[in-house]
Amino acid sequence: MEPKSNSAVSRHGAVLFGRRRGPKLRPARRRLLDDVLPRLRADLPNDALSSRPLDLYPPHAQDDLWLEVGFGGGEHLLAVAEANPHIAFLGCEPFVNGVARLLSGLVGAGLADPAAGNVRIYPDDARDLIAALPEASVGRAFILFPDPWPKSRHHKRRLVNKDVLDGLARTMKNGAELRIATDHRAYCRWILARILTHTEFAWTNGHRRSWASRPPDWPGTRYEQKAAAAGRDSVYLIFRRRARTKRGDIAGSP
Ligand SMILES: C[S@@+](CC[C@H](N)C(=O)[O-])C[C@H]1O[C@@H](n2cnc3c(N)ncnc32)[C@H](O)[C@@H]1O
Repeated sequence: MEPKSNSAVSRHGAVLFGRRRGPKLRPARRRLLDDVLPRLRADLPNDALSSRPLDLYPPHAQDDLWLEVGFGGGEHLLAVAEANPHIAFLGCEPFVNGVARLLSGLVGAGLADPAAGNVRIYPDDARDLIAALPEASVGRAFILFPDPWPKSRHHKRRLVNKDVLDGLARTMKNGAELRIATDHRAYCRWILARILTHTEFAWTNGHRRSWASRPPDWPGTRYEQKAAAAGRDSVYLIFRRRARTKRGDIAGSP
């Protein structure tokens, strides 16, 4: 899928490619954005819209912090958040219609009250969020079906690139998992080429029988369903953030 370009410049000056808006929202979804999003919104420090500093951990979900980049309609995020109530989840998605869909799911699951729920939302560019997250704060990160941008002249738009991987390596804890899915073979090769040469990540499910099927604790997504319906297989890649050593360089394993 190649999104209609509707780009805008993000906080750190990079262009955000992809759609921010889709079809006109139904009034009920609009109300969710107006009424519920402000309560669950994770604002970055110095954000003009900020009502409070980046609030990562709801009081009842202190065990870990998991980050999902580009959650789309939020099916995966909602499922893992419900399955792991003591973990704090931070979901990032600039597409307004997707944010509204997740909010609807959170209301249905009883997770829309910030005092009860364990999900916070950053409705904008993941690169800004990653840059603002504290070092070694994220215990697991997900990038599921990032836009493949198949044309060569658009490859520079791909989200999985050296800068984003460097940012994730900084924010991820030692031993933290990075899960990436794609249904696009060339993008899969691109991702592997960048992660396997990145000193701070190791591939942990390199056997075909492991990456070719979705693990039981990895809920599916809407985009994945569309790919399957179109006859495209997906791959489910799992990497580990290697341990930092005292000198700041990389150890063989955590
Ligand atoms: C192909 S869709 C996949 C959505 C969802 N993960 C799924 O599997 O159904 C890719 C998503 O990445 C989001 N995205 C693109 N660039 C992004 C960025 N810089 N930060 C956060 N999300 C981004 C898009 O808005 C889109 O929702």
